[in-house]
Amino acid sequence: MCGIAGYVGSRDAAPLIVDCLKRLEYRGYDSCGIAVVDSHGMFVRKSVGSLDAFREAIEAASPAGSVGIGHTRWATHGKVDQRNAHPHLSCDGSIAIVHNGVINNADRLRVQLTREGHTFASDTDSEVIAHLLEQGVKDGASFERAFLALPEQLLGTYAVLAMSRDSEVVLAMRKGSPLVVGIGDGEYFPASDIPSFLPNTSRVVYLGENEGFVLSRNGMERLDLEGDRVVHRADLPASQFVNLSPESISKGGFEHFMIKEILDQASGLERLIQGAPDLIGDVVPVLRDARDIIFVGAGTSYHACLFGEYLFASVVRRHVDAIVSSDFEHHAELLDSHSVVVALSQSGETLDTLEAVRMAQDRGARTIAVTNGELSSMARLAQHVIPLFAGPELAVAATKSYTAQLAILALFGEGLANQRPSAVGRPLWQAHDALFNLTSEAARHHTREVARELLGAPAVFLTGRGRHYVTALEAALKLKEVAGLRAEALHGGEMKHGTLALIEDGTPAIHFFDEQESPRTEVAASELKSRGARIISVGPRPLASSDQHIRVDDAGIATPIVQVIPMQILAYELAKLKSMDPDRPRNLAKSVTVP
Ligand code: F6R
Repeated sequence: MCGIAGYVGSRDAAPLIVDCLKRLEYRGYDSCGIAVVDSHGMFVRKSVGSLDAFREAIEAASPAGSVGIGHTRWATHGKVDQRNAHPHLSCDGSIAIVHNGVINNADRLRVQLTREGHTFASDTDSEVIAHLLEQGVKDGASFERAFLALPEQLLGTYAVLAMSRDSEVVLAMRKGSPLVVGIGDGEYFPASDIPSFLPNTSRVVYLGENEGFVLSRNGMERLDLEGDRVVHRADLPASQFVNLSPESISKGGFEHFMIKEILDQASGLERLIQGAPDLIGDVVPVLRDARDIIFVGAGTSYHACLFGEYLFASVVRRHVDAIVSSDFEHHAELLDSHSVVVALSQSGETLDTLEAVRMAQDRGARTIAVTNGELSSMARLAQHVIPLFAGPELAVAATKSYTAQLAILALFGEGLANQRPSAVGRPLWQAHDALFNLTSEAARHHTREVARELLGAPAVFLTGRGRHYVTALEAALKLKEVAGLRAEALHGGEMKHGTLALIEDGTPAIHFFDEQESPRTEVAASELKSRGARIISVGPRPLASSDQHIRVDDAGIATPIVQVIPMQILAYELAKLKSMDPDRPRNLAKSVTVP
């Protein structure tokens, strides 16, 4: 979480950095700030709230300077206020830093630095970095030398950009948190993620861990130590061109990224159906030969893992475990070279999932990353990478990446079950065609009506059995995060174990089912109805007790792909009705790169 961005070149840095931060807002948006240095000194401005308002303030101040750094924050240490917004400064204001990650030994460093005479201006863990650099310089090191000492001083994760008033350069280093550099024509854009600088350049360099880099108008160089002397090396990590158009990261005329991305799912699925089978062919033998298979992911990606668990049991007839990333360590002991860990992650940067991949590899297990971040840390770490073909997903809520994950898992399942490619191709094409109907203006209008009925409801229950339970979990997550609605997913077979006690007159209950599950769903829904619940059914036909119905036809193995679409739209429409910003849910950020 948190986005960092910088600029070194010959254009005005401040507006460029604000634009770069805007494209990183999915990583955090509670406060922001920039620092720009020129031959006269350092300009620093911070603000709580939106980058749009901040941009106006920056335009009014119009700071000169073509070297700068900036930050958009998702608070981890210290409340959301201007003091805690980045950049953080050394005591004398000569050094500015921005940081993404968590410094685990910040408290101890703070005590030590305070003893050495430093005064802290914020409650953040990040601020220690500015003071460590200042202390290093005070102790006689050059700014660059002090920067290279950071890995010995800091425990935890960091992507750091640092600047000194005395030199028009930006220093960059990462460990455990993402940091890339966009390389333009005589200009450099260090950033947490590629979309940040994409309209300016598509050439990118990925930074290795704990290597220091200096960006100046003369170029980008790696910092190295010869004894205690800092030398500049020209041997950079290889750069590559990313195949993303600036349009793919713009709203393209839509009101929000979320709806653009929901509507994008049909074309993403088409690309996936055409492109993925060849790639999956390579990993099917790896999965087939494994003694045990573990799917691991967080949030929505974890729900995709659960779908994989049901799918492998029913289609492949193999037991797999779906494990939430943050719990992985409790299972890691069971792994060895006969295990395969499949990590699902939209971003490829979720810290807990990355840790799981590392733990798996340490134990000799094979690892497969299924990710939208084809060039992400996870993709570079895992032994096999299967892309999602989804294109950039910038709304905080995962939508198109989820359905792409389900489709990839369906292809895994079919590959392992030795079925003809058409056995999975057909349901996926069926899902593809259904996506057009489910996202049509008429379908959206109907979903809006359902959303209107949910307005004012204090809570909603969502139920399903088997793989439909996974849809209930994912739909509940969307309603919670995007529309701020207390939404509880329940297994359809568990309702008599507690839930019935909570049903009151008018409590909305959403049921997911297919033809096969429809008789049991009918019974469960009528039990809820007779206790006052208002029944919303999502399946091929209405239930006898339905008050409202959203029609979703069966698509075989791909049914969960289509069933979730109206729920994504429902969360989106409900957020709008409640005047909430669907792209920027309260307290959330898309990429969880901190523990
Ligand atoms: C939910 C959402 C998050 C992510 C989770 C994992 O809509 O977006 O819950 O699913 O943070 O992120 P990735 O998939 O990038 O590892």
